[in-house]
Amino acid sequence: MSRQTPEQRGSFGGLGFILAAAGSAIGLGNIWKFPYIAYENGGGSFVLVYLAAILIIGSPIMVAEVLIGRRTQQSPVGAFLVLAKDVAGGKAWSVIGWLGILAGFFILSYYAVVAGWTVYYFGKCVSWSINGFTAETAAGLGTEFGAFLGNGTQQVFFQALFMGFTMGVVILGVKGGIERTTKFLMPLLMSILVVLALASFRSPGFGEAIGFLFHLGPIDSAGLLEAVGHSFFTLSLGMGAMITYGSYVSRQDSIPRATATICLLDTLIAIMASLIMFTIIFGVPVAERATTFTSRSATILFTTLPRMFYELPGGVLLSPVFYLLVALAALTSTISLLEVVVAYFIDVRGWTRRFATMVVGGLIFLFGVPSALSLGASPALTGLWGRGFFGTVDYLASNWLLPVGGLGIAIFTGWVLSSSVSQDEIETGHGKFGLKPLWMFLLKFVCPLAIGWIIWTVLNGGDFS
Ligand code: TRP
Repeated sequence: MSRQTPEQRGSFGGLGFILAAAGSAIGLGNIWKFPYIAYENGGGSFVLVYLAAILIIGSPIMVAEVLIGRRTQQSPVGAFLVLAKDVAGGKAWSVIGWLGILAGFFILSYYAVVAGWTVYYFGKCVSWSINGFTAETAAGLGTEFGAFLGNGTQQVFFQALFMGFTMGVVILGVKGGIERTTKFLMPLLMSILVVLALASFRSPGFGEAIGFLFHLGPIDSAGLLEAVGHSFFTLSLGMGAMITYGSYVSRQDSIPRATATICLLDTLIAIMASLIMFTIIFGVPVAERATTFTSRSATILFTTLPRMFYELPGGVLLSPVFYLLVALAALTSTISLLEVVVAYFIDVRGWTRRFATMVVGGLIFLFGVPSALSLGASPALTGLWGRGFFGTVDYLASNWLLPVGGLGIAIFTGWVLSSSVSQDEIETGHGKFGLKPLWMFLLKFVCPLAIGWIIWTVLNGGDFS
């Protein structure tokens, strides 16, 4: 194993870590997925469970991941090889790292496909705004989106384009690429969101949107499960992404404070995105809602929002801006997914960053091609294994690899890692950490039980994706 100095590995400075980690966390999970699953699960209660899950499951695991990364200065596999040297189980703990690499590989392969759609719709909205909105009916938009999904060449082209952007940033490295990009993108993203939120504040659907988001109605167990599962995905937990980013954190930074900031930003963005979207949805006359906002669909962002945007005052400006924002948010997430896999080959195998990025990025792209083709272009792939190729890869990663990885990280940090090591690391850059007993309690008992419950439910055929 080749150990590099922090100078060789690269490191974050100042706010770099917070922005990069928040960039990883904030992505399609916040803007595309959260609003529609919150909508489907009836709003208020779902949001409340989700907030609780972030607080008592997500944030302690994030602290654990960042701590493992900074302590060892390694990405996941290497980190467990270092920390688990003299403990029960020994090197076997590095399996968690391997699962993480596999999860990163899987998630990025299809995430880049959806991210490609946002670039395509950005272009489309620019053209609609200039030439006039042509897809007047929701049916028209749906047909158009369907045709786009069925066009294999376009699907693969935009997937490749997005992988290209991602690889470009990762090749430039931690400071030059990741930190510089997120430093500029994150504030931009927040500003655009605030503008959109202010715009919705004055729109007709706003009151109803607020009511929906905060009204506590009944919630079923599938909804509960989905909220807990999503808290993992949205914070980028369970696969060592935060171990990898943690390995670039300076010893002057406080891990608990950084974690709190990241969780807060991630949550704020998800809530803001939902408010913006619900305002648009509720701004449409009731009679038309049933036909425009159809049931469970991962495509709402593309099939119903554009039309609603063009009905809003200012929509001509807002719609391209909005899709640009989603594309940028996706980019800061894909960077982190690729970085986990690339960092393994740099840290453990001693490859150069450029070579590792080209090889790994190329392979992930190839593995993603069947996903890109499985949404309409190739009927054989659409029906494969019941869920289709895309659906199967997502299912394996989100419902298996992430929860199992998160469970491993919680158990390792709570039960196996020596308490003096975690105490020392958590107080480095922070000072005395009064919440340590609470943090330990959550890691030791609450997280394993909650995650165990997710895994148990998935094992028994309940689905939460
Ligand atoms: N958190 C991102 C989102 O919400 C997705 C993501 C990026 C992710 N890196 C990850 C999810 C690592 C799980 C693990 O869109």
